[in-house]
Amino acid sequence: MSKKIEKIYTCSKCDAQFLKWQGRCTECGSWGTLGENISVKKTKKSNLSQAIPAELESLSDVSADQEEKSPSGIREFDRVLGGGIASGSLILLGGDPGVGKSTLALQVAGRMATAQTVLYVSGEESSTQVKNRFNRLDLQTDRLKYLGETDLAVIIATIEKHRPALVIIDSIQTLSFEEVESEAGSIGQVKAVTARLAEVAKSTNVPIVLIGHVTKDGSVAGPRTLEHLVDVVLYLEGDKYHAFRVLRAVKNRYGSTNEVGVFDMKTKGLQEVKNPSRIFLADRKKDNPGSVVTAVVEGSRAFLVEIQALVSHTSFGYPQRRANGFDINRLQLLIAVLMKKAGLSLGAQDIHVNVAGGFRISEPAVDLAVCLAIASAMKGRPVSPQTAIFGEVGLGGEIRQVNNPEKRIEEIFKMGFENLVMPQIKLSGKIPGKQVMQYSTVSEVIKDIL
Ligand code: TYD
Ligand code: MG
Repeated sequence: MSKKIEKIYTCSKCDAQFLKWQGRCTECGSWGTLGENISVKKTKKSNLSQAIPAELESLSDVSADQEEKSPSGIREFDRVLGGGIASGSLILLGGDPGVGKSTLALQVAGRMATAQTVLYVSGEESSTQVKNRFNRLDLQTDRLKYLGETDLAVIIATIEKHRPALVIIDSIQTLSFEEVESEAGSIGQVKAVTARLAEVAKSTNVPIVLIGHVTKDGSVAGPRTLEHLVDVVLYLEGDKYHAFRVLRAVKNRYGSTNEVGVFDMKTKGLQEVKNPSRIFLADRKKDNPGSVVTAVVEGSRAFLVEIQALVSHTSFGYPQRRANGFDINRLQLLIAVLMKKAGLSLGAQDIHVNVAGGFRISEPAVDLAVCLAIASAMKGRPVSPQTAIFGEVGLGGEIRQVNNPEKRIEEIFKMGFENLVMPQIKLSGKIPGKQVMQYSTVSEVIKDIL
């Protein structure tokens, strides 16, 4: 078979390939991202008739061993993974720089290392730096091993020789793989490294946790491009100005992706939060117009969060609409419903909506709380601090049912709220001492409780 060597140009952002250099990638629209690569082209097609057909296997004959999962002992982490770390799995742990990925990984490693050998590979931090964090986290074990290395070949050889119970690699962007030409951290490298590590995890049965940085738009040679290459993708979220962190599974071959883990960043590392409602409501100022408490359901748990709205007269031009932790398009829609169906004149008002504490919500069950927060801010009248609200709002201003109402109700009353505003859903019985108010339209609620 003859080979032909030719130059191609690859975009470092989206990996698109071109035969000629150009200033702008026509695939993703970024400027100055094309770099030169050499590609070896096989000019002759492989001979199809020479391939040997494979033997078939009946699925009913395949022995289905339960995947072996070992709990790390950090409950919130295990919850997100669906019980623990599956053997031979490649887990990608992504998140913004500084959010606490290395801290969480070291804590997991420290816990696992109480009984077995765990390997912590760092291409970012020296053994002294890792040791300092080790001390800070109060870890006590001599089974946690450090390897300061960026050469993938060395790392793989080490894993194959020592077969630790778990390997942490911090971070994917620092690793280099000689077989791929481009520099460490580029798309080509990161992909090749991940694919190779997935093979190693499978062949040795050693689970590997791979740390990766993401930038806000998720574009830099990072986790986004790797999601299909790994078994589990976890994201650690949270902002720098708040202490708590939410761990989410975006992909999980071994369980559901609904669960979230909630942590609090303390001086001695990430602490598990057993009662998230308490920390999400910790700083709430009662009797503040624009503040409404609602219940969200994440996986098997419900917890309470505070929605805040600020409405102020637009000083010039086009009114501003800003959402923090809530979908901006959904906010625009709810504002339109409030104007059209509840008669609020919001046309010349700037509106800011914030989910307090930096939590991100994607369920429509918080619609009604957002509407009430805006109405309350606009009228300058607070919602009673003893009231919690949930319900989806439709385009006609009607209040629609939500999933898991029982879980929400239970959490709301458990946290000491006395009144509840919710959709018209049949409830199994009365709750003594508590008032449940059921409505079918947003305008009724606004009239009634503000
Ligand atoms: P780090 O795990 O280094 O973040 P990442 O690996 O995601 O870049 O931790 C980041 C922050 O966490 C850092 O600003 C210091 C803080 N921190 C604590 O508050 N308590 C602790 O016990 C540790 C280890 C870190
Ligand atoms: Mg780090």
